[in-house]
Amino acid sequence: MSLDQDSKLLEFIQAIRLTPENLRNSTRNSDHRKGLPQPSYEKKFDDSIKLVDLPSVNSIKVNEISLKEAILNRRSIRNFKDKPISKNDLSWLLYATQGIQSIHEKGTIWVTRNNDCRVTLRPVASGGSLHPFETYIHIRNCEDIEKGLYRYIASKHKLLPLDLSEDIEERITKACLANVGRRSQVLFIWTAVPYRTGWHYGELAYKAVYWDIGHVSQNLYLAAEGVDCGVCAIGYYDEDMLDEILDIDGKTEFVIFMSAVGKKPDKIIDP
Ligand SMILES: Cc1cc2nc3c(=O)[nH]c(=O)nc-3n(C[C@H](O)[C@H](O)[C@H](O)COP(=O)(O)O)c2cc1C
Repeated sequence: MSLDQDSKLLEFIQAIRLTPENLRNSTRNSDHRKGLPQPSYEKKFDDSIKLVDLPSVNSIKVNEISLKEAILNRRSIRNFKDKPISKNDLSWLLYATQGIQSIHEKGTIWVTRNNDCRVTLRPVASGGSLHPFETYIHIRNCEDIEKGLYRYIASKHKLLPLDLSEDIEERITKACLANVGRRSQVLFIWTAVPYRTGWHYGELAYKAVYWDIGHVSQNLYLAAEGVDCGVCAIGYYDEDMLDEILDIDGKTEFVIFMSAVGKKPDKIIDP
């Protein structure tokens, strides 16, 4: 059966179309409307584990390039200089993609005019400002940070070490398949926690999380221009393997997208 005749795909596309009926039903039946508590904007973490400090946003140094230059220079880069990225660079890239600028306990979701929602404001836009993502990074080569798997704790702008074992690099590399992720100095792995958006928007969250992640990925591309880093978006990887590595269930939290990051090479080649 061809894709345009596949009834499951057509059914799914119809279910998430932005018709007035779907919009009404989705928000009318949402858990927010039912009075259920709002989920947290950040996944819990074990606070007995020592977090890795990152340079604060005020101290981060970024090259003085124009926005025009950043936009015109942006390219997907798949070969990187054999040089570590600095803590400054990493701090900037994390902040520019998911850093928290402010938290509002009684924030407004503009489209539905609700003003009783806890929202965070970040350098990227997000439907309802509900930011349904967690950022994991696999570090292969970053100055002053041990190799391994970490989670970005946006509320503290610090890194939570998750797995610093010998074999983590090999497992991540395997999950990247033959893709560029295996050559990155730092691999960004974003997971979606769809209920953060679904609590308010109901089933339409499944559309919104994909809208949102594009904004995050593009900010990474542009922010990288300011610290001489190159980026390549990655939509091809073994999601089961990654879910297992990150110890997530693939349903309430699943890997939604990745990006490879490294220092820009002198010559860009497509390896
Ligand atoms: C959703 C998405 C998924 C992508 N997945 C991959 C990928 O898995 N591997 C890869 O090498 N490039 C990937 N890319 C990068 C594209 O190949 C790239 O954007 C395209 O070739 C245009 O080149 P440019 O980004 O330099 O303009 C992806 C880009 C997007 C937006």
